[in-house]
Amino acid sequence: MTVSEQIKQYWEAKSLTPLDDMGLKPTGRDPYLQRAVEAAMLKHLPAGKKVLDVGCGDGVSTKEFAKNAKSVVAIDYVENYVKQAAELCASEGLKNVTCLHGDILKLSETVKPYAPFDVAITLRCLINLPEEKLQFQAVDNIFDCLAPGGLYLLSEGWSESWSALDDCREQCGLDKMYLVPHNQLISKERMIAHLAPKADLIAYESLGFYVFLSRVLQPLVMAPEAPQHLHAINRVATDLQRAGIAPAEFDKIGYPGVCVFRKKA
Ligand SMILES: C[S@@+](CC[C@H](N)C(=O)[O-])C[C@H]1O[C@@H](n2cnc3c(N)ncnc32)[C@H](O)[C@@H]1O
Repeated sequence: MTVSEQIKQYWEAKSLTPLDDMGLKPTGRDPYLQRAVEAAMLKHLPAGKKVLDVGCGDGVSTKEFAKNAKSVVAIDYVENYVKQAAELCASEGLKNVTCLHGDILKLSETVKPYAPFDVAITLRCLINLPEEKLQFQAVDNIFDCLAPGGLYLLSEGWSESWSALDDCREQCGLDKMYLVPHNQLISKERMIAHLAPKADLIAYESLGFYVFLSRVLQPLVMAPEAPQHLHAINRVATDLQRAGIAPAEFDKIGYPGVCVFRKKA
């Protein structure tokens, strides 16, 4: 079995257990980070647009993107997640969401009848592709489905910021961050360079303050106990982030930072 097949098998297994033994979703174990990322993306998602959400999982963020969209096409390569996302959006009364089974590496096969899109989104999807070459192929597929001037919003896991966070934690006497073995962090610098011929980076929301409070301050407060994703510090961190309180001093460690690219005309 190839590494890609193993990763897909991992998600197929996870899709059968909506919550893990700690009551957290396998698709996004830190619910407060999920909200912070959604808020950062929604800030750059104009109303009334045709949106593509790739790697939608159970649709928890898809439904947020759909609330002000003209339409949303959500895809995932795990059929069970496609079903869950469709059910969740329907339960919220959202009639503008179409959930489809498909792989980002064969994106046009799945979404061609719906393209072009005004906005495309990936939220921790590319990070599941085991090589940079495949991650770049995936973003090229996304740009093929975007209208000229269309936006691509992504929050994945930037390698430079992850290293900076590890340095910061080390200075504070904390261990390095645990990285899920199949997660392939992405170099933000190299992504910007790869996309430069076809897109401009027009905005960046680092989420570094959220990261500092949840990944540095909270572990220090909790030590010697393990930090908790559902801790009140994370809740407050999200509220601050959503209120726009995001001191730039922390930008460097914002590994889930949201990049907003605009496709050249
Ligand atoms: C970490 S989860 C995130 C789900 C969702 N975006 C969210 O934030 O809640 C990653 C999702 O990407 C999907 N995925 C991974 N690789 C994919 C691929 N090659 N094509 C389509 N979906 C993929 C997985 O099945 C999983 O649902």
